[in-house]
Amino acid sequence: MIRQRRNALSPVAQQQAAQGLALQFTQHLALFDTPQTDKLAMQHVAIYLTHEGEIDTAPLIAALQAAGKTLYLPVLHPFAPGFLIFQRYEPNTPMRQNRFGIAEPMLNCHEIKPVAELDSIFTPLVAFDLQGQRLGMGGGFYDRTLAQLPANHRCAIIGLAHDCQLVDTVPNEPWDHPLSAILTPSRLYTFKR
Ligand SMILES: Nc1ncnc2c1ncn2[C@@H]1O[C@H](COP(=O)(O)OP(=O)(O)OP(=O)(O)O)[C@@H](O)[C@H]1O
Ligand SMILES: [Mg+2]
Repeated sequence: MIRQRRNALSPVAQQQAAQGLALQFTQHLALFDTPQTDKLAMQHVAIYLTHEGEIDTAPLIAALQAAGKTLYLPVLHPFAPGFLIFQRYEPNTPMRQNRFGIAEPMLNCHEIKPVAELDSIFTPLVAFDLQGQRLGMGGGFYDRTLAQLPANHRCAIIGLAHDCQLVDTVPNEPWDHPLSAILTPSRLYTFKR
């Protein structure tokens, strides 16, 4: 249902939403740029390339690059099924299609960033609520990968979504990883963690 709502947006509305997402990031740049004082401050940042109706991350990626952030993309783990690894992403990074048809950097051990060393991870989602719970695509890839973070980690998990993906309550399972913040085309929600 939520996915239908998301996928029903017209191409123009999709484009405006994507630009809005980047603009929200830029408007809150002080929060994302200030080391030590803000838990959303980031230098090493995992983002993802948009797939099937998700909000287009291309303008946000451009804004992150313009702000001098170091970017990483998820790659399906070659040996541990269900886990993601994060690999450096630059404009000239060689890419391939994974088994889901999603573009990912060609595996290069030298370019891998351990998840605990990332300052923030932007995640896709199908639905979110005002408690900062996220519903993903059901594969558990992000939940499984984020479960590797140490208890005292300082990695901000930030969901990206259209405003129409907000629901009253997301069904919450013990393994679901809560979000630190959610960025939409109209605002930034932050949560105390
Ligand atoms: N930390 C974990 N350890 C083991 N299995 C897990 C873990 N997290 C999730 N899973 C498994 O993954 C399955 C899917 O989880 P869930 O429905 O929360 O996916 P999702 O959050 O929608 O997906 P994603 O995280 O990829 O966006 C669950 O049935 C669960 O068994
Ligand atoms: Mg989950």
